[in-house]
Amino acid sequence: MRIGQGWDVHRIIAGRPLILGGVTIPSDFGLDGHSDADILSHAITDALLGAAALGDIGMHFPDTDPQWKGAGSAQFLAFAAWLVRDKGYEIVNVDSTVILQRPKLKDFRIPIREAIAKTMSIEVECVSVKFKTAERVGPVGEGKSAEAQAIVMLEKRVI
Ligand code: C5P
Ligand code: MG
Repeated sequence: MRIGQGWDVHRIIAGRPLILGGVTIPSDFGLDGHSDADILSHAITDALLGAAALGDIGMHFPDTDPQWKGAGSAQFLAFAAWLVRDKGYEIVNVDSTVILQRPKLKDFRIPIREAIAKTMSIEVECVSVKFKTAERVGPVGEGKSAEAQAIVMLEKRVI
């Protein structure tokens, strides 16, 4: 068994979509970044890479590379899932937390879990997504940024 964790933060900015786990959330602001700034997909991607000691998201998808400008983060996540399987691991489960002051995300839990599960080619029961405010404290609480944390378990395939 292997375990990996991932974390990401992006700035909140007007005029960009808010995309979490590949799902566009109705919102009057979004997240700034070189890619689509999907913090949740980025955190899970890093957790996958971390569990297999395969570096991090920036190593595989440098934000200086014009190829990844505006990239959909689902492709990063799908690639990381493919990479760990290629290294002989099966993905056991994912647990994650999005920390965002607003909007309320709980009504989007099922579509987000379904989208992540589909991207990673695992069962939706193996994907957990939780939401927290930051109690109006600090940059997240003041609505300046949003964060995501993820943890992933891998199991070595028996051959
Ligand atoms: O941060 P707090 O503990 O007050 O969050 C309470 C609940 O509100 C969470 O467990 C979650 O279900 C929901 N929530 C949400 N969207 C957010 C933050 C929290 O749906 N952006
Ligand atoms: Mg990111």
